[in-house]
Amino acid sequence: MLVAEKTAFAVVPTGAALGATIEGFDPARASAAEIATVRRALLDHLVIRIRDTDITDAEFENFGKKFGTLKPSPDFTRSRPVYLQDAPNVTIISNVTEDGKPIGEHGDGELHWHTDLAFTDEPSAHTMLLAREVPPIGGNTSFANMYAALEALPETTRARIARLTCKHQASHNAQGGRRPGYKDIETEDVREMPGPIHPLVRTHPDTGRQALFLGRRFGAYIPGLTLEKSEALLDELWSYAALPEHTWTQEWRLGDLIVWDNRCTMHRRDAFTGQGRRRMHRLTTLGERPF
Ligand SMILES: [Fe+2]
Repeated sequence: MLVAEKTAFAVVPTGAALGATIEGFDPARASAAEIATVRRALLDHLVIRIRDTDITDAEFENFGKKFGTLKPSPDFTRSRPVYLQDAPNVTIISNVTEDGKPIGEHGDGELHWHTDLAFTDEPSAHTMLLAREVPPIGGNTSFANMYAALEALPETTRARIARLTCKHQASHNAQGGRRPGYKDIETEDVREMPGPIHPLVRTHPDTGRQALFLGRRFGAYIPGLTLEKSEALLDELWSYAALPEHTWTQEWRLGDLIVWDNRCTMHRRDAFTGQGRRRMHRLTTLGERPF
């Protein structure tokens, strides 16, 4: 009986404001009908988790293609481009060094709340992480529901931001460090930093629902406002961006495969300095220009 329960295909919500586990599903051997159900679950739950996967990088890449056109991060963001021969769209997120060189990106520190590639004209629609090595503790990833963040705003604030935009500066990461492609940028003034301008409220192209779209706190600026008013409004919006009741935290196990929708979520990562090796294989799909 227990075996039957474990192998039956099922979408099991986390019980939090977002997230669901897909049970009894093998991403390497999925039928078209199963893929359709998984994609529907992603629209409904914003983040999906598949546990205990046993797939190659090429199978992971093939699974990723079911969600859209694969598009890795642009080179200017990347400290060390790493390409896998049998899965050229997969990038590596890792703290591991071999022969004195990091095998992947993002080290072992905390990564603040952000949306992937919000600082590009067409931010990622989906991000997928496949856990290849996991430290015993730390390195958890938390997700926030940005539909819920918008709904939580006071009515006056929501009306105020309906037609406002935000500049998503491209030169610095969420921690305030300069991106590899902008090592020589001088300015510390957020109004001067380069980056695309996107609406503060975006519409999800598939669900039609509206979500608060903030990208990153560091370096954000609301065009048309004084610096002081921009900072005050951003601080207010960020105070609603990741309320505990709108978040869910993934504690990684080896073989976990997570897919999230960047159009309606943000995420962050705990530090895990000194806790051991962590290696995630990552895919991203091309998104549309936010509207
Ligand atoms: Fe990210």
